[in-house]
Amino acid sequence: MNDSISALILSWYDLNKRRLSFRDTGDPYRVLVSEFMLQQTRAEMAEAYFSRFIARFPDIRSLADSPLEDVLKAWEGLGYYSRARSLRRAAEIIRDQYGGNVPDTCDALLSLPGVGPYSAAAVASIAFGVRTPAMDGNLYRVFARLYDERGCVDRDSVRRRLSSLALADMPEDRCGDFNQAMMDLGAAVCVPGTPDCAACPLSCLCRAYIAGHPESLPVRAKKRPPAQKDYAVVILRRQGRICLFRRSEKMLNSLYVFLLIPLPEETGIREVLDRADSFLLSRVPAKPAFYLGSAKHVFTHQVWNMALITAECDAESWSGPEQHVWTNVEGLASLPMPGAMKAAREKALQLLSGPAEEGKINSRSLSLNLMAENTTGSTVGCDSK
Ligand code: ADE
Repeated sequence: MNDSISALILSWYDLNKRRLSFRDTGDPYRVLVSEFMLQQTRAEMAEAYFSRFIARFPDIRSLADSPLEDVLKAWEGLGYYSRARSLRRAAEIIRDQYGGNVPDTCDALLSLPGVGPYSAAAVASIAFGVRTPAMDGNLYRVFARLYDERGCVDRDSVRRRLSSLALADMPEDRCGDFNQAMMDLGAAVCVPGTPDCAACPLSCLCRAYIAGHPESLPVRAKKRPPAQKDYAVVILRRQGRICLFRRSEKMLNSLYVFLLIPLPEETGIREVLDRADSFLLSRVPAKPAFYLGSAKHVFTHQVWNMALITAECDAESWSGPEQHVWTNVEGLASLPMPGAMKAAREKALQLLSGPAEEGKINSRSLSLNLMAENTTGSTVGCDSK
């Protein structure tokens, strides 16, 4: 064990740790919730949602007993909704099989839905002091530099090597603090690209720093660029109400969206409207669709390019198998919707709030090319997986 690494990093942590509301809690439930939130979200952003979520669901039982839609609503804005679904399911299992107590071993934590090796180690070490490193991207980067690891950190063999080095450097106590100290170091000092080695408490022991090339590590596999997907997002209106569709596929499971019509790449606006009109014709009596603007949403593996359009319906009928609801302004605010629908929801709220919008939408030029146009209300955010 390298005692100096743990002594140096823990002293640094005592002086420099980020003050985050989910820290320094003795409550394993809170640690579990925060680690679900932190799986794909930066600590500063998760913090804003954490207190609200805990106020709404203060313990395992209140979370496990709540309808999924309420949990998804409290998660709205954080993205990656599969985390919220898994967290609620994990709460049910903890209520039913563990008497409402978060289990205290990595193996038991790993058996819960949505808990992988990283989260299991984070919860076990932070909530119960288990001596196990929580290896996320930050820790792989920090340890790849500390030990001048030149192998690709996306390879299992390299990850295993770095995990054993991290375990060897862990102290016998303050294991949770050690993990969180390394996370903070990775987030603020040993950052991707050019690290701030002058501010690093470990630079005197860091082999990549001593060798003069910390910025070249870690070595990563080349990423494929995200797939581009084009959609018409149709705001269907009728007498102050809007039609929303409840999706069941993995990425959008149990979330509500406007009507989504997949488009071939780079479809011009005129064709988008023609396609929407013919799509609607067989499903709902509607007037011709109008173009409102465009929006973009960046997921981890996909980019959605969206043409926002609207059509006035002559009836609230829908002849298709899709689960849908006709809802008012309150429904638009209370039903869980993915971040990708943010721009469309704002347009829908404007449309519901007054007839003045109607004139504006009719006067739009229809000859614009969707993909060439600047995006309006562009939403760049979290995934909805
Ligand atoms: N990322 C994941 N878990 C974290 C934690 N407990 N503190 C800071 N960043 C984190």
